[in-house]
Amino acid sequence: MDKFLIRGGKPLFGELEISGAKNAAVAIIPATLMVEGVCRIENVPQISDVTMLLNILQEMGASIRTVNKTTIDIDCSAVEKTTAPFELMRKIRASYYLIGAELGRFGHAEVAMPGGCDFGVRPIDQHIKGFNVLGADVQVKNGMVYAQTENGLIGGTVYLDVVSVGATMNIMMAAVLAPGKTTIENAAKEPHIVDLANFLNSMGADIRGAGTSVIRVYGAQKLTGGFYSIIPDQIEAGTYISAVAATGGEVLIKNVIPKHLDCITSKFIEMGVSITDLDEAVLVKRDTPLKKANVKTMPYPGFPTDMQPQVVTALAMSEGISIVTESVWDSRYKYVDELKKMGAQIQVDGKTAVIEGVKCLTGAPIAACDLRAGAAMVIAGLCATGETIVEQIHYIERGYEDIVGKLQSLGADIDYLKTPIEPTEKSVLRAIS
Ligand code: EPU
Repeated sequence: MDKFLIRGGKPLFGELEISGAKNAAVAIIPATLMVEGVCRIENVPQISDVTMLLNILQEMGASIRTVNKTTIDIDCSAVEKTTAPFELMRKIRASYYLIGAELGRFGHAEVAMPGGCDFGVRPIDQHIKGFNVLGADVQVKNGMVYAQTENGLIGGTVYLDVVSVGATMNIMMAAVLAPGKTTIENAAKEPHIVDLANFLNSMGADIRGAGTSVIRVYGAQKLTGGFYSIIPDQIEAGTYISAVAATGGEVLIKNVIPKHLDCITSKFIEMGVSITDLDEAVLVKRDTPLKKANVKTMPYPGFPTDMQPQVVTALAMSEGISIVTESVWDSRYKYVDELKKMGAQIQVDGKTAVIEGVKCLTGAPIAACDLRAGAAMVIAGLCATGETIVEQIHYIERGYEDIVGKLQSLGADIDYLKTPIEPTEKSVLRAIS
């Protein structure tokens, strides 16, 4: 099992580039299924969720060509299959976008129930409600979702009962080629929703209102290939902001859209971090003690749930008592026990965490329990005195491109331990010294 070894206590200085947005990429890649011809996608993050989706498309018959490190050509024209190996689809949450894309292209879909990070119950009832409105019959049997239509989909009006990123994108995808008008009310507004709409529009779709709570999709005859560049990852940028907030230092974070970061930066500014918006970058500086803050996660433009573990970790070393409320997911505090092993003072009661800031954390062997929790473990290790070993790093690699290289470029003392030689921490440390 690969691990990270971090010798903490050093502030971060320098500059780094943010990669393409994971949650945009994992929707845009399945959406290429509906396009006739080659889609050239730029700013693709090199993360394992993307690799997995590309493998799924390839298994279905797509032709995929790597143009350079961040650019790929995907041609799904020859795809005839609607299935991919169950084990491959089951591993990743975003495989659910294949339902919308397959329905849109073939009028039927067969997709494994999505996997992904475990935050308690992760239903897809709102996706199904949308597909039903568009005329699909959807059955869930033996871990698979089977969707079919008599004569293809047809536009309709869907009112989402909860603001769901996945349901908004999936219904939008299914509707793109459905004759007539589809209206999605109470839609999610995240930047990756706008990005998916922009991608589809640039291939010939007619989607209006993405980024607002009402999205209208006018069915197009067909989508044809073209170029598209994925937006920068708002959450990756936020994670590095959180790392600088926690360790101190000064870092120029490049390739970002500062407006997308407002919901994150405003909270860190409240905590005493200096953040200056530049054209396509933000300069982040923290040279005074971090202040307490209260945070409530909300759908965009609220504070993102995907930044909750990272902000809790920074607050664990702030002055005073902070209260964090998780309002999107039922169970997203599993990582807190790991922080406690490092000396953090955090009490969790349901959706609320009460954090009493401590002067510093101490290094310990800890494990990532999901993607963002994993990033939070890395931040904790960067701040802690002594050595921290982070296990289960495959979670982190699902969504962070080269996190070790990027942090090393900022002066962090972090190493990627490819394979442990012996089971004890002591011998692992000896092996890399
Ligand atoms: N929900 C329902 N029914 C549904 C769908 C969602 O009740 O049919 C509920 C969920 O249980 C949750 C809330 O609605 O309480 C929001 O869920 P949403 O559908 O927005 O989440 P998602 O689409 O499954 C995406 C991201 C998550 C991110 C959430 C919220 C992807 C692949 N995943 O998940 O990202 O936390 O939106 O912003 O885009 C991550 O990147 O680490 C991550 C977990």
